[in-house]
Amino acid sequence: MTSSILSKPSSLSGEIKIPGDKSVSHRAILCAALAKSVSTVNNLQHSEDVLNTLNVVRQLGIRIEREETAYKIFGKGLKGLSNPKEDLYFGNSGTGIRLTAGVLAWQSFNSELKGDFSLSKRPMQRISEPLSIMGAKLLLTSENTPPIKIIGTTNLSAISYEMPIASAQVKSAILFAALNAKGVTKITEPLITRNHTELMFKQIGIDIQVNQNEILLSGQNEFEGAQIDVPGDFSSAAFLIVGALISPNSSILIRDVGLNSSRTALIDVLLSMNASIEILNQRKFGEEEVGDLKVNSSELVSCTVDSEIIPNLIDELPILFIASLFAKGESKFFGIEELKHKESDRLAAMQSGFEKLGIETQYTNDILSIDGKGSDFLLQEGQIDSFEDHRIAMSFVIAGLRAKKQIKIMNSDCINTSFPEFISQLDSLGAILNESK
Ligand code: S3P
Repeated sequence: MTSSILSKPSSLSGEIKIPGDKSVSHRAILCAALAKSVSTVNNLQHSEDVLNTLNVVRQLGIRIEREETAYKIFGKGLKGLSNPKEDLYFGNSGTGIRLTAGVLAWQSFNSELKGDFSLSKRPMQRISEPLSIMGAKLLLTSENTPPIKIIGTTNLSAISYEMPIASAQVKSAILFAALNAKGVTKITEPLITRNHTELMFKQIGIDIQVNQNEILLSGQNEFEGAQIDVPGDFSSAAFLIVGALISPNSSILIRDVGLNSSRTALIDVLLSMNASIEILNQRKFGEEEVGDLKVNSSELVSCTVDSEIIPNLIDELPILFIASLFAKGESKFFGIEELKHKESDRLAAMQSGFEKLGIETQYTNDILSIDGKGSDFLLQEGQIDSFEDHRIAMSFVIAGLRAKKQIKIMNSDCINTSFPEFISQLDSLGAILNESK
């Protein structure tokens, strides 16, 4: 069954607490499962993606108990996982399948990792290549996509690996594999990507050293469980931030937002566009920076986004494209090719949505240009397909706040993969939305 959302012109005001971060949640579950004692994870994201990873870890023999706002995960140490009775299902989640493959690469049992229609089309050679060099045995389809069959082997060796693409998922798959590999693994990144795995390893006492784009990790050391407090998801907050910036008379406070600098390039770009964003109450959850964000409606000007920072706002590009449409002047985005390999081809999906609303964009030589219309601009009525991609759906729901009448977003169920509270939170901030199931 498919659902749709009608998004209508509105302003946003009020205060919300943003739910837990997806990237940190996946890592917390895996680290807790591999620790040799119990961990308590607070504020885990309750999305379909994260619940799938939680379920996979249960299938691997780990006891998990839900308390009011926390999960207790009874880790059994590096050698504690057991043979799953069935295939492991990761739904829509590239992070879930790639990071878990790094763990299953060094188990004594075989496993098969699967996903939904979208995940079944995503590239997995980027992880099977380095993991194979370490001695793992991963079999992919002839298109190098899932299902991933892993033949159990317990003897991985460390690797010295220069990553050909900037990907935190690939880096993290190697780091999870390196946890039980013999020797010291060295990873060199072409550009700095999100560093949640490194920070969580550090928090739980794993000996990891990071020097700019070089990471060193020595394997085969057991570690204890810990209390992990998951910060709010900056990528979820991004939709509300842009919503408040582009809709007039808006003023919102978003509490407990993760502000890890490898994730927040969107704030820097928006500030360069004249956005009114203030960071308050900055503090730490474990090794992760957290703060509250005060955002007011703003008259935005265009931006230029260089390829070096793309990994630090890769998930925020669709909503940044929406912001740039309501900015004055032409915005340019360099080196955005990786967008084609996300939950959908996000470049094609965004261009198609814009086209349905009568907006033309240009993409040549891996540069996207968007001709901004300014803060008074209103979008014509239209019907947009989400391409079953949560971030495409949420981007156009936000665009609808600046419609003349309304925008209809088809196939909006996918929002549950990362931000099931999106509609209710927007609603509580005053957005006028109609959801039909
Ligand atoms: C993620 C890394 C990014 C990002 C994804 C989550 C992670 O993917 O797009 O949503 O948790 O490591 P890549 O590392 O493949 O670019």
